[in-house]
Amino acid sequence: MCGIVGYVGTKQAAPFLIEGLTKLEYRGYDSAGIAVFDGETINVEKTVGRLAALKEKLEGHVPVGCVGIGHTRWATHGRPSDRNSHPHTDCSGDFVVVHNGIIENYMSLKEQLIKKGHEFKSETDTEVIAHLLEELYTGDFEAAVREVLKRIDGSYSLVFMSKNDPDKLICTKKDNPLVIGLGDGENFIASDIPAIIARTRKTYIINDGEVAVVKKDSIWITNREGQPVTKKIFEVNWNAEAAEKGGYEHFMLKEIHEQPKAVRETMSARVAKDNSAIIMEELKWNKEYLDSFQKIFVVACGTAYNAALVGKYYIEKLVRIPVEVDIASEFRYRSPIIDDRTLTIVVSQSGETSDTLAALKESKRLGAKTLAITNVVGSSIAREADQVIYTWAGPEIAVASTKAYTTQLITMFMLAMYMAGIKGTVTPERTKELLTQLHQIPAQISETLEDVEPIKTFAKEYGFNEDVFFIGRSLDYAVALEGSLKLKEISYIHAEAYAAGELKHGTLALIIEGVPVIALATQKNVYEKTLSNIKEVKARDAVVIGIASANDSELEKYVDHVIKVPETDELLIPILTVVPLQLLAYYAAITRQCDVDKPRNLAKSVTVE
Ligand code: F6R
Repeated sequence: MCGIVGYVGTKQAAPFLIEGLTKLEYRGYDSAGIAVFDGETINVEKTVGRLAALKEKLEGHVPVGCVGIGHTRWATHGRPSDRNSHPHTDCSGDFVVVHNGIIENYMSLKEQLIKKGHEFKSETDTEVIAHLLEELYTGDFEAAVREVLKRIDGSYSLVFMSKNDPDKLICTKKDNPLVIGLGDGENFIASDIPAIIARTRKTYIINDGEVAVVKKDSIWITNREGQPVTKKIFEVNWNAEAAEKGGYEHFMLKEIHEQPKAVRETMSARVAKDNSAIIMEELKWNKEYLDSFQKIFVVACGTAYNAALVGKYYIEKLVRIPVEVDIASEFRYRSPIIDDRTLTIVVSQSGETSDTLAALKESKRLGAKTLAITNVVGSSIAREADQVIYTWAGPEIAVASTKAYTTQLITMFMLAMYMAGIKGTVTPERTKELLTQLHQIPAQISETLEDVEPIKTFAKEYGFNEDVFFIGRSLDYAVALEGSLKLKEISYIHAEAYAAGELKHGTLALIIEGVPVIALATQKNVYEKTLSNIKEVKARDAVVIGIASANDSELEKYVDHVIKVPETDELLIPILTVVPLQLLAYYAAITRQCDVDKPRNLAKSVTVE
């Protein structure tokens, strides 16, 4: 995620750029910048930090001019810093670009451009676009942009400006949002409607592959092939706050719906095109390095801990290295047995959780090698760890973690497959099978999200129960823990997750008539056992909602209701089964009129012990 804006008109550009970026700060806030053409040159002002830092920097010398672009960043390639902030320029400073997305083939493009003499100023993927434009420009700005688009792979929304054609901005998109706001003698470009809603409600929603040449009094839109496109004006009728949430009532619901994209982005450039291997450019491990580990710890808190439990299963199953999972606040005080044959993996969305950071430091002190899985580039945990794998979920605003969890699962799976590839513990055939299925996951999450009506009904029906139980075995148990955490934190329902086989050792005493039990049953080797446990709770008159794979025709015979998720490998199914549980928690909270995005007593980033 990042936010981008553009202005071309007769008024000063900078005030709109800053106002628009302020409305887009929810899309990223680690650095910001603007570029404005003053009649002679394009002046770029940018800085690390929140938008407030840019505003402070501009005090007293706001760039003057009526054409400009701006950006608020959520770092993916290159840590937050002044030079990695957007806008980015070519060698001459004549071409300037802002970008939201990821350019997957930037490394090879960068190498080619360096060989041709281009000098890079940042570590970002975006800067290659500016240099590529410079390289391909032969006097026609639009033609050069089209040549750039032929050479870049990945996801993007982009706005270009050129000193040679200062009366226009060119914008385009693929897999990232972009809108044009239609003004009177002025036009606006933005990632999202909140940025422009105060200026105009008339918009064009740009589709993938469309290229728009935007001047103050005209907008010329063509498709990928260069054919003109006739677009309908989309009249916005939401208010600014609803627009910021993309029309969703809460950030949590928006983020639940962002999961297909978040997962796709996290996978992008990490799965070989022919599904034969996982590529982890950031690690560059070899067999000798992996063989040196006798043990792996995965340490985290809350939802990230639940993701770590799935990670343990992946690594032990696919790589055959023993893994211990620990809650960060426990780990640091229990004298864990660690030496230089230990790898400690910490998982943290924010990268700032103090217990996780302390556990990481303790591990390092005892001689372990360390790896962080985090969503925030340049965060304390990212800086402290020896190595980092970033999840590319974009900013998570709602306190209840959703897209961070699914991207953590994807990352843990890719990490295990990467390690298995090096150690040769998974056959090439099985690798291909798993990675082919991995590619289906984003579309399957979307499919799961469509089936929301039954979940709303269950939430209404059972939302006023004070106790809910979640059961499952193996990977289903790990997902049950996450489902129960979601339910308690946002709906304040007392929810407990149990390994299904453990119920009869005490908890079964709490199962009485009408108590809702959510039973996950997707793992083949324990399926029959789980079924027996379901029968045990049914015999005590519990109401059972089963969560099963689409190819399961058995479970519905034993439960009161069943929610099915698309069929995939049972290793990957947790990434799908958690989705109805997130939705159930969300709609239960709505039924109980809870403050979904800001649950009581909780904060997004826990930087105290
Ligand atoms: C639950 C939730 C928390 C966090 C936990 C760790 O929805 O969000 O349990 O998972 O506080 O936070 P990070 O991942 O930022 O270290």
